[in-house]
Amino acid sequence: MTSLFDPLALGDLTLKNRLIMAPLTRMRSQQPGNVPWELNAEYYAQRASAGLIISEATQIAPLGQGYPGTPGIHTGEQVAGWRQVTDAVHRAEGLIFLQLWHVGRISHSSFHPDEGLPVAPSAVKPSGEVLIADWTMAPYETPRALETVEIPEVIAEYAAAARRAKEAGFDGVEVHGANGYLLDQFLQDGSNRRTDAYGGSIENRARLLLEVVDAVVGVWGRERVGVRLSPYGTFNDMHDSDPVALFTHVLGKLSDRGIAYVHMIEPRATSAGGGDTVQEGVPCSSELFHPLFDGVFISAGGYDRDGALEAVASGRADAIAFGRAFIANPDLPERLQKNAPLNPYDRSTFYGGDARGYTDYPALG
Ligand SMILES: Cc1cc2nc3c(=O)[nH]c(=O)nc-3n(C[C@H](O)[C@H](O)[C@H](O)COP(=O)(O)O)c2cc1C
Repeated sequence: MTSLFDPLALGDLTLKNRLIMAPLTRMRSQQPGNVPWELNAEYYAQRASAGLIISEATQIAPLGQGYPGTPGIHTGEQVAGWRQVTDAVHRAEGLIFLQLWHVGRISHSSFHPDEGLPVAPSAVKPSGEVLIADWTMAPYETPRALETVEIPEVIAEYAAAARRAKEAGFDGVEVHGANGYLLDQFLQDGSNRRTDAYGGSIENRARLLLEVVDAVVGVWGRERVGVRLSPYGTFNDMHDSDPVALFTHVLGKLSDRGIAYVHMIEPRATSAGGGDTVQEGVPCSSELFHPLFDGVFISAGGYDRDGALEAVASGRADAIAFGRAFIANPDLPERLQKNAPLNPYDRSTFYGGDARGYTDYPALG
């Protein structure tokens, strides 16, 4: 029977265990310029015992930024900053992929005053409020629908970011197609009302994600590319009229492409980390969608030790990503292996701030 602590072949890499550090936005990059630095390098290196670290979501361009203090991968300074992080992780014998991010309508013009309104598939405003550049809350803006002729530029931004990720020393990249950001906004019909080749049918709504994946595979090769998805996720005001049909199509196409992995967030953790509760009685993505994908299937969202052991032993998932538990436990694999107690996490230090609640969680003595 396969164990969570067994190695895993992922593309042409071998992960030392099946415990993945989930992508976790912490809003602690250096200002100005959203540049990763020493403190971030220390944080990631502390967690290098994960089979694979997936970096916090990282904007591919200024218009892709959605929150203050999140790092980018579109300037030379940011590449140099990330190089410190990847070097530190590699010295600690870890592996790290970069999560490529464009937030679409979740952005705000305060992050990119010269470029105006956020862009999205359609001019559909999400409900609620957003944290803007000065760390205050403001209502979402109604985004500007991308013109069809602008879409190749967005794809080119993903490709350029993928190239910079290579320069920065990452081991691969994860395309963020989850949690209501740009690519998910194209996928789901609650946010995509387009009438061109990128809207309407499921095939059309999946087109941008697949073109981005192809562009990124063109840079990295298929064995170093993964995709994150969140079927049934409602975070960021998302909904779709037929998630099973939509994600069945997407998984088939990703499977045909032979990418290294698909990473799905269970809908029971639909708040994307915003809430502490795990909803029961909602569909199970790993059960529904794993059979449709030939590569490695990573499952995330609301796992504890027993749940993770069971999911891997039963074959429902090949690896499990932990979010909040990795924030509070730099040595999570060792703790889970020994069945040692976990440090509780402190939600008040998730986003922004300094080393407190970031690099000061203790490892086992
Ligand atoms: C503080 C915080 C930041 C997060 N940032 C990201 C992110 O940058 N990219 C992403 O895909 N998911 C993000 N998530 C979602 C997590 O990756 C994960 O799916 C979620 O926390 C559920 O897993 P858990 O129950 O193990 O915490 C974040 C969650 C939290 C709590």
